[in-house]
Amino acid sequence: MISITLNGREQSFDVEADMPLLWLIREEAGLRGTKFGCGIAQCGACTVHVDGQAVRSCMYPAVAAQDKQVNTVETLGSKDAPHALQTAWIKHQVPQCGYCQSGMMMAAAALLQNNANPSGEDIDVAMTNICRCGTYSRVKAAILDAAKEISS
Ligand code: FES
Ligand code: FES
Repeated sequence: MISITLNGREQSFDVEADMPLLWLIREEAGLRGTKFGCGIAQCGACTVHVDGQAVRSCMYPAVAAQDKQVNTVETLGSKDAPHALQTAWIKHQVPQCGYCQSGMMMAAAALLQNNANPSGEDIDVAMTNICRCGTYSRVKAAILDAAKEISS
């Protein structure tokens, strides 16, 4: 059994020693916003925050999250109180198929937590998530917009 604070609520989970955090999130906790893409920490579709840092949960052992704060895309914002990134995502019509987008937004949210006013180059360096639909330029524009909104 491990105890983690998942989206603000302390919970216990019975996990296998080799279970990735992504499995705990999707299969044990039933939170399906976080996606499985490559399974080898390359694409970023599974990005969540552990103690405020972006991690690729497909390769992050669930047991390593013991006693940590894990936040998924479900806590980024809500319909009534959207995160600045969500507002910017809608304004720039970023998603195409949408599959990579929750991971993109969680990576972007971690970037803005660490650097509230990133340059275009900072975004290029930090955003290594893969989008097979090629939404990269709109992702970048939306992050710049959200940063402006947050710092205004
Ligand atoms: S599914 Fe985790 S990085 Fe691709
Ligand atoms: S929007 Fe389709 S994979 Fe990124």
